[in-house]
Amino acid sequence: MKKDLLLPLFASIALIFAVGWNYLSIPGVPDWSEEELRLIASLSLDSLPPLPLDPSNLVAEDPAAAEFGHRLYFDTRLSSNAQVACATCHKPELMFTDGLALAVGVGIGPMHTPSLVGLAYSPWFYWDGRKDSQWAQALAPLEAKHEQATDRVQLLRLISNDAVYRGMYEEVFGALSLPAMLPESGSPDGDAQQQASWNALKPETQTDISRFFANLGKAIAAFERKILPGRTRFDDYATAVVAGSDEDNTLNNSEKSGLKLFIGKGQCVTCHNGPLFTNHEFHNTGVLAVGRQMPSMGRYDGVRISQEDSFNCLGEFSDAAAEECTELRFARDANDLVGALKTPTLRNISVTAPYMHGGQMTDLAQVVNHYNKPPSSMLSHNEAKPLGLRTVEKIQLVDFLKTLSAPLAIEQKWLVAPDY
Ligand code: HEC
Ligand code: HEC
Repeated sequence: MKKDLLLPLFASIALIFAVGWNYLSIPGVPDWSEEELRLIASLSLDSLPPLPLDPSNLVAEDPAAAEFGHRLYFDTRLSSNAQVACATCHKPELMFTDGLALAVGVGIGPMHTPSLVGLAYSPWFYWDGRKDSQWAQALAPLEAKHEQATDRVQLLRLISNDAVYRGMYEEVFGALSLPAMLPESGSPDGDAQQQASWNALKPETQTDISRFFANLGKAIAAFERKILPGRTRFDDYATAVVAGSDEDNTLNNSEKSGLKLFIGKGQCVTCHNGPLFTNHEFHNTGVLAVGRQMPSMGRYDGVRISQEDSFNCLGEFSDAAAEECTELRFARDANDLVGALKTPTLRNISVTAPYMHGGQMTDLAQVVNHYNKPPSSMLSHNEAKPLGLRTVEKIQLVDFLKTLSAPLAIEQKWLVAPDY
């Protein structure tokens, strides 16, 4: 071969090699497999179905109920010290969390405040799923001593004495009648005095008051159904790659590699799946108990409590027919649920620190370190297995998690208190 041909030949081989190598190794253009593309599509908001109806709440879609619930949600008069509302702990500007490790209401509670974004899709509520509807959940903080610490009788007095509230209530639920000889306060779940005045009421009166109370929860739930996630950079990327475009620069290389780890080596997608990044189920991931607390029994207790709850789907205040209460009737009740907690959504996760059921972890790097080397569980067994992530991979995973935040898909007026 002539010498002057050799140089161009080597040059072209080198060029082909360089281009090929580059293409294979650019982490930013992961060569998504079909399985990966399927997973990416399943995480995208494009896959979120319309919000299903809640058969246990007939006013869930009633605009007047949502207006009423919106007002109740922000009103601190619904607390014993007139300082605590739902919005005190579930702050719209923090994606309906509070930035604290443990929630502070009238007192300090034992748990961390979870986000309410997209929660209307969940069949269970609370870290241990002890409530089976959003309206039944909303009743508990109103009466809980460490949260709003009021009670259903005091609330009946408040709503019926406030002309605006009374009008809003009656528009949705019909005439509000006050029983003769209403005590100042009372609840079957209150302290000794509240219970005593409750027990002095006639059973029909108790039922009427509890129905009124349940209706407040149904109005609040109608408002909460509007708290839906907005499209993030991840969603835009997912739409583009699923449509076959590999040119999309919506995510940078590190974020794309993090996505690959999230659905692959990191195994996050086994629990944080679907467009809300949660399977709505309960798992033991070995998160240590909050200092000085017993480890939570989690779902093991939650199932039983939900079944005994007088405000559950099968109870007299629910609007559902018994056959519509499938989640409650077929709830799994097993020993492996000891210490299992509800998988939280990861949407807006960069805005909702600290993390976990007791706010035990302050940042996402700490969360990823936890999953990389999960401790053995304090109760039962830990489902999370060691991942063997390298330092750079841990950074990529965190970078990906940060792409999941975006303003909510909700009209601005719902995010601020109405004029009182
Ligand atoms: C003092 C702070 C505080 C107040 C006030 C409060 N919450 Fe919560 N909220 C929490 C905490 C903490 C949890 C988790 C408790 C648990 O799981 O045991 C929670 C859980 C929830 C959940 C379930 C979340 C999930 O992921 O399942 C919903 C829904 C909710 N709150 C709505 C409300 C509504 C509606 C109000 C007002 C009626 C309210 N909260 C008042 C702190 C608060
Ligand atoms: C076996 C199921 C499971 C797997 C696998 C899993 N998670 Fe979780 N995740 C959970 C549960 C359950 C919680 C709540 C645990 C608690 O509060 O104690 C949680 C909590 C979180 C939180 C805190 C959310 C909040 O609002 O406090 C983040 C962030 C998170 N997981 C990210 C990940 C990442 C990243 C991976 C992959 C490396 C992963 N998870 C793997 C089930 C899982």
